[in-house]
Amino acid sequence: MEEGMFNVKDMKLAEKGKLNIEWAEAQMGALMKVRERFEREKPLKGIRVGMALHITKETAALVRTMVKGGADVAITGCNPLSTQDDVAAALAKEGIRVYGWKGETREEYYQNLQSVLSFKPQLTVDDGGDLVHEIHTKHQELIQGIIGGTEETTTGVIRLRAMEEDKALRYPLIAVNDSETKHLFDNYLGTGQSTFDGIIRASNILIAGKTVVVAGFGDCGRGVASRAKGLGARVIVTEVNPVRALQAFHEGYEVMKMENAARVGDIFITVTGDKRIITIEHVKKMKDGAILANAGHFDVELDVEGLRKYPSKQIRAGFERFDVGGKHIYLCGEGRLVNLAVAEGHPSGVMDLSFCNQALALEYLVKNRGKLENRVYVLPRELDEGVAMLKLKSLGVEIDSLTEEQREYLHSWNQGT
Ligand code: ADE
Repeated sequence: MEEGMFNVKDMKLAEKGKLNIEWAEAQMGALMKVRERFEREKPLKGIRVGMALHITKETAALVRTMVKGGADVAITGCNPLSTQDDVAAALAKEGIRVYGWKGETREEYYQNLQSVLSFKPQLTVDDGGDLVHEIHTKHQELIQGIIGGTEETTTGVIRLRAMEEDKALRYPLIAVNDSETKHLFDNYLGTGQSTFDGIIRASNILIAGKTVVVAGFGDCGRGVASRAKGLGARVIVTEVNPVRALQAFHEGYEVMKMENAARVGDIFITVTGDKRIITIEHVKKMKDGAILANAGHFDVELDVEGLRKYPSKQIRAGFERFDVGGKHIYLCGEGRLVNLAVAEGHPSGVMDLSFCNQALALEYLVKNRGKLENRVYVLPRELDEGVAMLKLKSLGVEIDSLTEEQREYLHSWNQGT
């Protein structure tokens, strides 16, 4: 491959990466169906796609699907710690422009984003909104060539909606996160399971009998709380939204303020999407031995900067111990997304749904080229339901369908008591 076409850690890892991608694909039956169709119909023919999304085996399965659909792809990660180096090497070997490695500095992270932008993408795929942000603030010259973009995650969608409100958005975006077949599964099941995968790989701690404090009760927080309960923990939820707090209460969790939870928790997990959820003042109230982890997109939820003022030791990979006024406080994955920084992110079986939505969203943008406004769109319901049907089929699950009489009943308003 020509010089500058990729920048990865070690090409010797390519064979391992290929096997890992194949293992992911074996669990991504719905995406494989989309891939078969893409191969026949080539909906992305000749289109340059620029991506900033965790470089994992599941993302590689999406990239391969886009390539089968005719796209030319350049990819970088969306978190300095989440790249799977073997997967990056395998993609590079397959001719993909891939820029990223686990443990990038902030500067390298932005250089890699820049490499993707140098490719002049016509479609952008973001997870967290960094590509869209770079384009709108520093590379506006690219906008005239851009058909549209997609956003994978809640945090990115919040950023996009803020841009839309400010009338700052300059090309159409699809909030993939807002498809039901994305957020009801990936956020709940994926974050729920993989957050514990990360905490356990970091610490190998027994969860049963511990008090787990979950900050935030959105789809991700609900998933984390439910898995904590399933593993035998006593679960406390902190929330600012009264409806969600009430929901948590009626699901059987204790609900309290963080300042009170701080005194009793053994394991603290932030999953709010907002900043400074656990401050150093909270940390000072914690018990000796408390463990902190973040499962929100950016590393702003825990006051890592505050913690770094105290002496620390790296205990094992992804696990540090801080000496805060004579108490030991432990931090997983440097306060970055614990599931991707310390483990492998969401399992393939659930990313299957998210990445079907990504593939269909890109196809939708191309089909509707020139017809969409500079707004944040959600995929049409029939496409969302289509993803669920594909997944059910791939799992061998059959469901009933409405009879004509039932359909009519649902559309009538004059059949009452
Ligand atoms: N986000 C969360 N888990 C992921 C995964 N396995 N691959 C890509 N993005 C993710």
